[in-house]
Amino acid sequence: MRRVDELREQTVWKSDPHTQVKHLVYRHYLQCWMGKILQTFPEATIVDAFAGPGVYTDGPPGSPIVVAKTFLEHTAYRRFNKLNLVCLEERTDRVEELRRQFAKLSPSPQLNISVQAPGVFAEQQPRLSTLAHRGRAETPVLWLIDPFDLKSAPFSLIRRCLADPRDEVLFTLFTNELHRFCQRENFDKTMTPYFGGTHWQSAVPERRGRREAFATAYQQGLKDQELFTGGFGIKVSNQSARYHLVLATHSEAGLKCWAPVTWKLDHYSGQGASAETAGALSLFDEASVVDRLDVALRAYAGTAQRWETLSSQAARLNHMDKHLRQVLDKLAAQGLAFRVDPVRARTAWPEGCTVRFYAPEDVADEAS
Ligand SMILES: C[S@@+](CC[C@H](N)C(=O)[O-])C[C@H]1O[C@@H](n2cnc3c(N)ncnc32)[C@H](O)[C@@H]1O
Repeated sequence: MRRVDELREQTVWKSDPHTQVKHLVYRHYLQCWMGKILQTFPEATIVDAFAGPGVYTDGPPGSPIVVAKTFLEHTAYRRFNKLNLVCLEERTDRVEELRRQFAKLSPSPQLNISVQAPGVFAEQQPRLSTLAHRGRAETPVLWLIDPFDLKSAPFSLIRRCLADPRDEVLFTLFTNELHRFCQRENFDKTMTPYFGGTHWQSAVPERRGRREAFATAYQQGLKDQELFTGGFGIKVSNQSARYHLVLATHSEAGLKCWAPVTWKLDHYSGQGASAETAGALSLFDEASVVDRLDVALRAYAGTAQRWETLSSQAARLNHMDKHLRQVLDKLAAQGLAFRVDPVRARTAWPEGCTVRFYAPEDVADEAS
């Protein structure tokens, strides 16, 4: 049976390597998100809006079970406050299978699982939002948006999921379809609502890396709405990305969980993982991939910057504090960065320090 027929006709379908990588990203992100959010807020909610049946024919769990198990098996589980897991799926047979899969898990008083009656996400979103926030706009809500096609999740719907201050979205962006079909007649009628504007057109002329250019354009649309965003390409072997996972969040703190995930799965660039490289050790020296951060820090020449500013800058460029320290070491060795405060410290770049930057001309020997 062709895969597209399998997805359409069967309740449960076979997993593939892309799904495994996607779930790996979910697991790593959730590990961090749960660790931070569930020890800070009295309760939080994850909405799996395109939940699926919760299992694949060849055995691996589906995303709702991945979420529940990440919670139940978390090392900080005993310290966690309450998590609500709300699942929506449009097909009755898949909803029934999902309920069967959840019934196999041991119940936990801290985990409130709610499998909704079959429904279409765009119609159910306002009701799910009320349910997820539990009467408080400040309740953190993470929306997992993982449809089969472009039409089920237009930008306007994603935007609605981000209406409240602690809403976050982890979204599957179909960059391969966008790349393949963007020049088809009338496809703009799908593209423009999907992006929430015509800015997707900037990616069309790209001859190499058009999939990445679509991800960048989509993320630019989020940034234009004052949101923070991270992206990650899901691919197999050395092929191009089939789709991207895109995170949208109101807070820079959200990115602090995202960067480590992407670097864990892709030691080379933090931009995208193949099924083979996920979990494998790096063949490359990480020092070679922090160039964007190096350029950004050099632009501070002539100024003093606080650690918080530098750490934010690093997070926006999808780098972790360890990368920041690595680049600062390199700049310091060239005389281009100095810690000016505190004077004494146990490590070179402690949190809270202030760093002054210089340009190469400032360092050049005047006599030469
Ligand atoms: C890509 S699969 C989800 C896979 C699942 N998230 C996982 O990772 O294991 C998409 C699922 O969404 C369901 N679906 C499709 N359109 C939908 C809609 N508009 N609202 C809710 N569910 C929908 C499909 O039946 C399918 O089970």
